[in-house]
Amino acid sequence: MAYETIETRVEGGKVGVIALNRPKQLNALNNQLMDELGAALKAFDADEAIGCMIVTGSEKAFAAGADIGAMAGYSFADVYKGDYITRNWETIRTIRKPVIAAVSGFALGGGCELAMMCDFIIAADNAKFGQPEIKLGIIPGAGGTQRLPRAVGKSKAMDMALTARMMDATEAERAGLVSRVVPLDKMMDEALAAALTICDFSQVAVMAAKEAVNRSFESGLADGIMFERRMFHAMFATSDQKEGMDAFVNKRKAQFNHQ
Ligand code: HXC
Repeated sequence: MAYETIETRVEGGKVGVIALNRPKQLNALNNQLMDELGAALKAFDADEAIGCMIVTGSEKAFAAGADIGAMAGYSFADVYKGDYITRNWETIRTIRKPVIAAVSGFALGGGCELAMMCDFIIAADNAKFGQPEIKLGIIPGAGGTQRLPRAVGKSKAMDMALTARMMDATEAERAGLVSRVVPLDKMMDEALAAALTICDFSQVAVMAAKEAVNRSFESGLADGIMFERRMFHAMFATSDQKEGMDAFVNKRKAQFNHQ
């Protein structure tokens, strides 16, 4: 499929990389971009050869938010009847293989929300995160008021949503929003290395681990632990469990067949 607002490529034969590509608008997110991103993610997710995906932007901007020009004229009826955001912006939540956000530059508003919809964030040292919607007379609308407090706690989330203050990469790592901060010129190498590491593990176990961690955000502790326990039990039905443990016992490298 030919895309106009994103670029896709496969690295190492197994990592699907998607680069947001509206440079003149600092990768501002519009419906076309979100449709294309969703389609690309789904295609990689369905591809047997792909084990992990990376979503990234440009050096200057991961994404500077939802496209303000596109939104400016919307009425309540437009967004409500058109199911704005809900209709097509959250496809990433249905993706079952891991998705890493590699964030450099601005990740603001919907851009920060998109990064938070990914499974984890690797940030360049120039990354800046923020939910500045309040300056536009609106509030975050793609999960910012829900995922940000889960990631950084109430006080920082309130601070960012109410004052529009941006958080730099160091603070974002300290607060738990991002998993690693690396120099800008090393960011893609780091994300790619993480993705390739994941690809070499059992795909069944990787998908189960992702599903179980995500369940922790949707359930109480006892239910979440029970979900984890049953998934853990299920791993013993896979040939990858036999392979992984046999390889350890016999001091050799495991060769998983993802079954
Ligand atoms: C549309 C945008 C944009 C956006 C930047 N641009 N952000 N266009 N939507 N969100 C455009 C600018 O208009 C400009 O176009 C070009 O990108 C370069 O931006 P500058 O402002 O000139 O760059 P700079 O001075 O470096 O400032 C960068 C910036 C600033 C701090 C990121 O652009 C900014 O504050 N942007 C808006 C950030 C924001 O409010 N995001 C939240 C959006 S609301 P021209 O044509 O002039 O060169 C949102 C809702 C989420 O995300 C809820 C639903 C998902």
